[in-house]
Amino acid sequence: MTLSLPETREGFISVLEAFQEKSDFYTILFYNSVTSTNDLAKELSRRDNPSNCHIAVHTPCTVIIADHQTGGRGRFDRTWFSPPGLNIYMSIIIRAEAAAGITDMSLINVVTSLSAINAIRQCTGLDVLPKWPNDIYISNRKIGGILSESVSMGQRVISCVTGIGVNVNMAFEHIPESLWHKATSLFMETGSTYNRAELLVAILEAFQTLHCRLADDPKGLINEWAMELCPLMRHN
Ligand code: BTN
Repeated sequence: MTLSLPETREGFISVLEAFQEKSDFYTILFYNSVTSTNDLAKELSRRDNPSNCHIAVHTPCTVIIADHQTGGRGRFDRTWFSPPGLNIYMSIIIRAEAAAGITDMSLINVVTSLSAINAIRQCTGLDVLPKWPNDIYISNRKIGGILSESVSMGQRVISCVTGIGVNVNMAFEHIPESLWHKATSLFMETGSTYNRAELLVAILEAFQTLHCRLADDPKGLINEWAMELCPLMRHN
């Protein structure tokens, strides 16, 4: 299935607004350009802490979405290539009290990874796969990555931040030579452009469903992820 309309900027924002309207799980914040959505999420998360409350957020999760990152980061502080207007860059803040005490970053990583791969499959029909520990791959190239971090104040974990980058509409000519043999995008795989906002909403919907399962069924989720990590097991 190819995603419906190619997006315009107004269209992008109106899809997010329509989703926000009906969501009591997420507060969505959209920015044109940020250094890193994870860095901003961590900063906002500290500000949102009840003991230091400057903004009132009443939903379990806050989502930072940016059209562009000037300092997108991956694991080990590697640069995450983040050109404007082409890809998905977002970070979900899960407040600890909303997470039923689940602040285990590896579990959050499992939920985020499954959400992203399920949503990409549902929206594109492509058989993307997770690669240990936090990559999303297709045809031996990386199409997305996840960066989950905890935010502490003193000894206390106050929130988890899980960042998701998906290469959506970038083309070969957009990427630096150093990534030619490593990175791909939905466009590079199919020749079609995709509506980033619709894919983003699909990821958020999947994340909400799976995150709600986390308290009751962490083992089930880990098993699902393990099956995805080992394609041989999937076909047995
Ligand atoms: C990796 O592959 O090492 C993880 C890449 C994670 C990239 C995303 S893009 C949105 C969020 N903001 C960041 O600075 N990084 C994550």
